Amino acid sequence: MVIYDFYTFLIALFKIVHVVSAIVWLGAFPALFVLKNQIMRYRGTKGERKLISSWLIVNNLTGMIGSIGIVVTGIVLTLHYSYGFFQFASGTQNHWLYTKQFLTVIVLIITGVWIIPTGVKVRKALHGEINKLEDNEPLTDHTYTMINKLTTLTYVIAVIVLLNFLFAITRTFQFS
Ligand code: HEM
Repeated sequence: MVIYDFYTFLIALFKIVHVVSAIVWLGAFPALFVLKNQIMRYRGTKGERKLISSWLIVNNLTGMIGSIGIVVTGIVLTLHYSYGFFQFASGTQNHWLYTKQFLTVIVLIITGVWIIPTGVKVRKALHGEINKLEDNEPLTDHTYTMINKLTTLTYVIAVIVLLNFLFAITRTFQFS
């Protein structure tokens, strides 16, 4: 009986961590939006490297917490409820979940293939010749192009995470 209660508690905890991870991830997007606007506003000025660095850190940290937190707990919860993975043709009511799983895989691919390599390149460019954020050389146009690419990809992910959140919380709604 005690073991059963502990197990129930663990599942509840996983669900809380799952939802909190989603909230951390979603909550970061407005902050990233504001920081990006500041980067454009202070383009070419002293100190812009630190601003861009903060933007990269927020993006990296919240993306890691959000994605790892969601994927690990999501897999545990899926196994616990025996919902299965990507079973679109199963005829069950779990399309909201399979869609979430599918979109999350897309997010992970976008992150691994484009976001991380581009982020690493921007980070290198920020540290410049003297390998310090205090480098006063202006950033190249190529660096701004990479920053813009990173921004677009981040917004694509924001839309996907928001959609997933809406799929999850509206799944029990009855429209009749
Ligand atoms: C960005 C991606 C995701 C977001 C924003 C998200 C969000 C949420 C939210 C808000 C809930 C709570 C819904 C409720 O109880 O009313 C939830 C539940 C759940 N999620 Fe996710 N999720 C995501 C990805 C995933 C993935 C990838 C998996 C599986 C690998 C997954 C599996 C689950 C399961 C099994 C539940 C519990 C279902 C239940 O209580 O019956 N989620 N999700």
